[in-house]
Amino acid sequence: MNKQILLSGGAGFIASHTAVALLEAGYDVIVVDNYVNSCAESIARVEKITGKSVKLYELDVADRAALSKVFAANSIDCVIHFAGLKAVGESVQLPIRYYRNNLDTTLTLLEVMAEFNVKNIVFSSSATVYGNNAHVPFVETMPRGCCSNPYGWTKVMIEQILEDATVADKELSVVLLRYFNPIGAHKSGMIGEDPQGIPNNLMPFVTQVAVGKREKLTVFGGDYDTPDGTCQRDYIHVMDLAEGHVKAVDFALQNKGTEIFNLGTGIPYSVLDIVNTFSRVNGLELKYEIGPRRAGDLPRLWADASKAEKILGWKAKCNLEDMCRDSWNWQKNNPNGYKK
Ligand code: UFG
Repeated sequence: MNKQILLSGGAGFIASHTAVALLEAGYDVIVVDNYVNSCAESIARVEKITGKSVKLYELDVADRAALSKVFAANSIDCVIHFAGLKAVGESVQLPIRYYRNNLDTTLTLLEVMAEFNVKNIVFSSSATVYGNNAHVPFVETMPRGCCSNPYGWTKVMIEQILEDATVADKELSVVLLRYFNPIGAHKSGMIGEDPQGIPNNLMPFVTQVAVGKREKLTVFGGDYDTPDGTCQRDYIHVMDLAEGHVKAVDFALQNKGTEIFNLGTGIPYSVLDIVNTFSRVNGLELKYEIGPRRAGDLPRLWADASKAEKILGWKAKCNLEDMCRDSWNWQKNNPNGYKK
C-alpha cells in the first residue's frame, strides 16, 4: 500500500504543486483545506494532471473534532503542514488573527497527530525566520532572528514548538523547510499562483500587469546597495520546491528528531532581473516604474542551499528563464486564476 501523506492547507499554491510531485512519486495524498485563500479547483486540476485521485476534506485545521475524523478515517504516515495565513503586511494590521490562526492550527494538528500516533511532520517555514540582521547567504546553523512582522514571528514560534516537541517525544520526526521566493508554475499551465485581490508578491503582480489586469509594476526602491539598486532575492521554481517536499517526506519517514533545510537555488536575482528576464523570454513589454522602498524589505537575501543537496540529494534544476516562462504560461491560460 502507498504511504498516505496529509497536506494541511493542501489546495494552496505550493501545496497543490507538491501534491502533483507526491502523487508522481507514488504517495497517496489527502488534502484538508478551508479555502480561505484557495479553492477546490486546484485539486481537481492536480487530479487531471496526474490521472490520480486525491481525498479532499473541507475543514479548518483548528477544528479538532473535524480533523480527528480525517485521522480516524485514514492511515496517515506523514503530514505536511502548509496551512497558515501568509500576508506580511496584513499580519502587521491583524496580529491577533495571525497568531491565533497560525498557532492554533499547528497546536491542534500536533494534538491530533499525537492522539493517532502519527510521528512525521514536514513544516512550511520561511527564510523570514533568519530575521532582519542575518548575513547572506543564510545557513541553517544561524540562529532564528528578530522578525519585522507577526507573520514571520509565527514561523519562528512554530519552528520552536516543533523542535520542543521532538525533544519530548523521541519518536517524532520534524523537517523544517525554509522556503526562499517560490515562483513559476506547473509546466501544464493548469495550476499556479492565484492570489486574492491585489498581489503582495512580485511575480503574480508582474503576470497580472502582463495580462492587462494591472496598469504597471511599481518596483519598490531603486536606491539599495545592490548591483542595480533593486532588492535581490533567491527565486525558486515551485516545482523544484515541490520536489524538495518529496525528499523531505522520504527523509522524515526514515529519521527522528528535527532537521532544517533551506530550499532555494543559492543564486540572487534583483527585481529588475525579473522584469527584464520576464519580458525577454515571453516577448512582452512590461510597464514599470521605480517607486519608493517598501517598509520592512531587506536589500538582499539568498540561501546557502548546500545542506539539502548533501543530505536530501535535492538541488533546484530550473533557472530564472524557466520560472518566468512557466509563470506566464499559467497566467495567460488562466487570466482570472481558477475563476472561470
Ligand atoms: N516587489 C516590488 N514590487 C511589487 C512586489 C514586490 O518591487 O509589487 C519587490 C519587493 O520589494 C522585493 C521583491 O520584489 O524586493 C520580492 O518581493 P515579494 O513580496 O515577492 O517577496 P518577499 O521577499 O518580500 O517575501 C517573501 C515571502 C514571504 C517571506 C519573505 C522572507 O513572500 O512569505 O519572502 O523570506 F516571509
